[in-house]
Amino acid sequence: MARVLASVRFAIPLILLATVGLRSEPSAVGQSASPDPAGEAAVVQAQAPLPDATYVGESRCIECHAQENRHYSETTHAKVFRQNPAFRLQQFGCEACHGPGSRHVANALDRTAIIGFTKGWGTEVPVQNSMCQNCHGGGTRMHWPGSAHASNDVGCADCHNPMQRVSTANLLVRPTIAETCFQCHPQQRAEFQRRSHMPVPEGRMTCTDCHNPHGSVTRPLLRADSVNDVCYSCHAEKRGPFLWEHAPVRESCLNCHQPHGSNHDKLLVSARPYICQQCHNPPIGHPGQFYRDGQTAAGALMGVGQSARVIGRSCQNCHTQIHGSNHPAGARFQR
Ligand code: HEC
Ligand code: HEC
Ligand code: HEC
Ligand code: HEC
Ligand code: HEC
Ligand code: HEC
Ligand code: HEC
Ligand code: HEC
Ligand code: HEC
Ligand code: HEC
Repeated sequence: MARVLASVRFAIPLILLATVGLRSEPSAVGQSASPDPAGEAAVVQAQAPLPDATYVGESRCIECHAQENRHYSETTHAKVFRQNPAFRLQQFGCEACHGPGSRHVANALDRTAIIGFTKGWGTEVPVQNSMCQNCHGGGTRMHWPGSAHASNDVGCADCHNPMQRVSTANLLVRPTIAETCFQCHPQQRAEFQRRSHMPVPEGRMTCTDCHNPHGSVTRPLLRADSVNDVCYSCHAEKRGPFLWEHAPVRESCLNCHQPHGSNHDKLLVSARPYICQQCHNPPIGHPGQFYRDGQTAAGALMGVGQSARVIGRSCQNCHTQIHGSNHPAGARFQR
């Protein structure tokens, strides 16, 4: 720190950081082209949690951590930092993330002397995250501060393991994105095992098609401005425009569908015809009560006779275009 203060050129970003309190905010310092091509500001930020330590170079680290280094060497970071460092912080290798190591090398048992990302080590989660954000602020992480994950002390290292290649991309802690999330979201794991579900277990889509785990302006961490906009990104035909709109569809797909999975057909929130009858009970133009005891399959067995109108798709045997109709005579969604 003293070394840095000695130079006027370095002091400017330092003062800025101190006064604006920018340190905990995401920023891509050092990755932006000018006016700091060497990325000195990123170095200042990276050093801040360990002000009285200095950088010793990664060959020192490897002397004692050869095993960790073997796995780390296969990762994106190792390759970029060693072969083509873009700015100064990257040249520090291990210490770009773990902070300057001189105090740790002198006393490896002092847990305040190096930034650890494992649960037991004791470094505060916001400090851990800030080390990653020195290079990875902004972008898809623009809304990280204050997001559901950030404010619940979830760390970058809960989802990412930069020390070895467990996943094909994104340095995740598990082989797939869904498995990474299921560590903490067992209820959602169960939802995807229901009879009708989005094809996440089949690997045809994943959590991040709909959610941004790094934060978003829409609850709950959605990738678009509303639930419907998320769904339209793949089911574009449901967007319309329709001559005859069905009000609940425009309001939210979740009026009728579960986003993850359901034990009812087509991810519906309840069985047909009940789902329609929740909103459309008598009086409507025809009896809304198609579903009497005598009309069920059980009733049919007892000889009462099942109504053809409730079999299978029920109300939709006639009202087929439930998401909206473009037929001039489709006001009742029959065509
Ligand atoms: C003299 C040997 C030695 C050197 C050199 C050394 N370490 Fe360590 N390091 C250790 C030991 C031993 C531990 C385990 C301490 C403990 O468990 O209490 C450790 C622990 C760590 C941890 C914490 C791991 C956790 O549980 O989260 C990190 C991170 C770490 N070292 C990084 C580094 C880095 C980066 C360097 C280079 C700047 C480095 N070490 C240099 C011996 C060394
Ligand atoms: C891109 C950031 C980054 C770099 C670069 C990095 N580490 Fe780590 N390191 C981490 C994270 C995150 C963890 C926690 C991994 C976990 O949860 O198991 C970690 C964990 C560790 C541990 C604890 C044991 C383990 O493997 O989980 C040691 C020791 C360690 N790192 C040493 C090093 C050394 C030595 C280097 C350089 C050869 C290095 N790290 C480079 C981020 C980094
Ligand atoms: C010194 C700068 C720096 C630091 C610190 C840093 N990274 Fe990176 N990271 C990079 C660069 C450079 C790349 C590769 C190019 C790119 O994707 O932008 C990268 C790539 C990644 C990737 C994508 C890797 C892939 O194979 O798809 C992830 C995930 C990532 N970093 C997470 C982290 C996490 C988590 C931390 C903190 C523990 C961290 N990074 C710390 C510079 C950094
Ligand atoms: C809740 C889990 C989770 C947390 C916490 C998390 N990430 Fe990620 N991250 C992911 C997933 C999943 C992907 C893959 C995204 C995709 O495929 O769309 C990813 C991708 C990335 C990438 C590569 C692609 C890109 O967006 O540039 C980087 C870099 C990254 N994360 C950095 C970070 C940093 C830094 C933090 C901490 C501030 C962090 N992540 C916290 C789950 C997480
Ligand atoms: C280390 C644990 C952990 C991991 C891993 C994790 N989450 Fe979370 N997640 C939480 C916590 C804690 C909350 C906030 C409390 C809650 O709502 O349950 C949360 C909340 C959420 C929310 C609700 C946000 C809101 O506004 O209510 C979504 C969506 C979410 N996570 C998605 C994901 C996705 C997608 C992944 C995988 C990429 C993931 N999570 C991985 C711990 C985790
Ligand atoms: C097809 C889009 C989609 C996919 C794929 C998806 N989600 Fe969701 N998720 C949603 C929507 C929409 C909501 C909002 C539900 C609500 O408001 O009732 C949601 C809600 C959540 C919540 C918050 C639950 C609550 O009650 O607040 C969590 C946690 C979550 N999802 C995690 C996941 C995880 C983990 C995965 C991957 C295994 C995943 N989601 C995949 C669309 C999706
Ligand atoms: C990333 C693309 C994607 C997004 C976003 C998406 N879906 Fe899907 N959806 C699919 C795929 C793929 C299928 C499976 C189609 C198949 O099996 O033919 C599917 C199937 C469905 C099904 C039919 C299930 C069945 O049993 O036939 C419903 C209902 C559905 N999605 C509703 C939604 C809703 C509601 C949303 C918004 C919360 C949404 N989808 C967002 C890709 C997506
Ligand atoms: C009023 C209730 C309701 C609302 C709201 C609703 N749906 Fe549906 N959706 C249904 C019913 C009922 C089915 C079963 C249709 C069938 O079996 O023909 C269905 C089927 C689907 C299917 C699978 C069959 C197909 O038509 O492709 C998709 C995909 C789908 N809905 C997407 C959406 C999306 C996206 C939204 C929000 C824009 C939405 N739904 C809103 C009731 C609704
Ligand atoms: C969340 C409540 C809700 C659900 C569930 C719902 N609807 Fe609707 N539906 C409405 C509303 C609101 C209107 C618009 C009524 C109006 O314009 O007076 C409407 C309009 C209609 C119309 C046109 C009626 C008219 O007067 O123009 C038909 C037909 C219809 N719905 C059938 C169904 C069927 C079949 C289902 C089940 C698949 C269903 N609805 C599920 C709320 C719902
Ligand atoms: C056998 C075919 C058929 C079935 C099954 C059916 N409907 Fe209808 N529905 C009609 C016809 C025909 C009309 C009147 C159309 C018109 O007047 O233009 C209608 C009208 C409606 C209207 C508009 C009433 C009004 O006052 O304008 C609603 C709402 C409706 N149906 C809901 C339902 C619901 C909910 C179910 C399932 C419980 C259902 N329908 C099952 C044929 C059917």
